[in-house]
Amino acid sequence: MSTPSIAFEHVSFQLPGGRTLLEDLNLEVQAGETLVLLGRSGSGKTTTMRMINRMLEPTGGVLRVQGTATTAWDPIKLRRRVGYVIQEAGLFPHQTVAENVGLVPRLEGWEPGRIRARVDELLALVGLDPAQYGGRFPRELSGGQRQRVGIARALAADPPIMLLDEPFSALDPITRRDIQLEFKALQRRLGKTLVFVTHDVREALVLATRIGLMRDGKLQFLGTPTAFLASADDEVRAFLACIEPEAEIA
Ligand SMILES: Nc1ncnc2c1ncn2[C@@H]1O[C@H](COP(=O)(O)OP(=O)(O)OP(=O)(O)O)[C@@H](O)[C@H]1O
Ligand SMILES: [Mg+2]
Repeated sequence: MSTPSIAFEHVSFQLPGGRTLLEDLNLEVQAGETLVLLGRSGSGKTTTMRMINRMLEPTGGVLRVQGTATTAWDPIKLRRRVGYVIQEAGLFPHQTVAENVGLVPRLEGWEPGRIRARVDELLALVGLDPAQYGGRFPRELSGGQRQRVGIARALAADPPIMLLDEPFSALDPITRRDIQLEFKALQRRLGKTLVFVTHDVREALVLATRIGLMRDGKLQFLGTPTAFLASADDEVRAFLACIEPEAEIA
């Protein structure tokens, strides 16, 4: 079998004070796969993402990206291969939408014309008209629009791996459903390796190749959406109970 895109081998992470945030994580993500990390608030999802692009280093075990331990990667090179859409979109407030999206191409010294074309293409891809939105500042957008700009920015460098931390959390349910389906089609076309964090079970079931359910810093369940639906695990059942309509109206 080919080298996994991402491989956690007995990865733990402890704070200097001794508190354990991640415990003995074992997990492989294959190229082109969409792993959805699901879990309650504080279960360790964002911490897991931050390990992958070496914003945090394991205090135990090894985490490999494309076969090489993150600690052996040059952090800059690693981050160019791993696009990251952070939980709050993280746009630069004093740059326009177009400047935000063109950040990495600019750093890589592309010609202005090529940057412009790429920015327009990406804004259109995430459903924002470049003529209307390109010149605006982040504060002139809604939360959901800012999230889309964050996604366009992460796609700009065409990284083979992308980490997306609740990228659709600020969208209304209808737009959210639309963008989930668009995103799934886009994913089929681009074939990237994705690690996608959400609290939303439906979103996980729509997008995932496999679902990893975290609880208190541990991976409590790992499997396909079909296996997730059939699992007897308590935490899986607790999440599934959130999407049973009878429970809501009874
Ligand atoms: N630098 C830090 N110092 C102390 N505690 C931290 C630090 N970073 C994270 N934590 C704690 O680690 C736990 C996991 O945090 P993490 O951000 O990974 O959760 P999460 O699953 O992403 O939650 P959410 O769904 O709310 O975003 C939480 O209890 C959090 O308070
Ligand atoms: Mg988080």
